[in-house]
Amino acid sequence: ANNSQGLEGFPKYKVANIKQLQGSCPVYFFAYPLTDEPCFLVDFSKLNGMTNVEFKNPYGNQFRINTNFKNIMGVGPKGSICAFSAVCVHLGCQLPAQAIVPSSNDPGLNPSSSILHCPCHGSMYQLDQGGIVVGGPAPRPLPIVLLEYDESTGDIYALGTNAPYFSEAVPRRRPRDNLIYDPRYSYSVPSNPACVRV
Ligand code: FES
Repeated sequence: ANNSQGLEGFPKYKVANIKQLQGSCPVYFFAYPLTDEPCFLVDFSKLNGMTNVEFKNPYGNQFRINTNFKNIMGVGPKGSICAFSAVCVHLGCQLPAQAIVPSSNDPGLNPSSSILHCPCHGSMYQLDQGGIVVGGPAPRPLPIVLLEYDESTGDIYALGTNAPYFSEAVPRRRPRDNLIYDPRYSYSVPSNPACVRV
């Protein structure tokens, strides 16, 4: 895979076409890298009006895995589309990114703050800052899925992730053993268009 920004060994495959993102819903779900690992595209131009999105990789200079991560850039015609895991890095609950909520205190995604709030123990991730943790017990940022956009076809590809995938330490004893994907849970990928306005 062409995965120069993240860890090696992730597959590259198509997750959506730009035409599939043409409604008003700012999120679009897909599975990556495994078929039961829910992730979502977020189009910031629809969520909070941001275009040409760019943020520092929150995982840069951490975990001694790569000290030279590039900034994360939005893709698509407006440079506004990014992607995140839909699995909370606290204890693995599935994040309800499809629930568009009026306040960041409600579980779901609040457009004005771009905060995604986990219903289980209240972790809060600010998506327009790269999924950084702004509340609750999550020990690290929400993993970003790296994307590539093919202008000629409108296809959007997943290339890898910005985050370490820890997959061997169940039961977990230390925060760093947290999984992006917990095999004890059963996840589902919401069907698209996914938005539920709460
Ligand atoms: Fe999300 Fe605990 S699993 S806050």
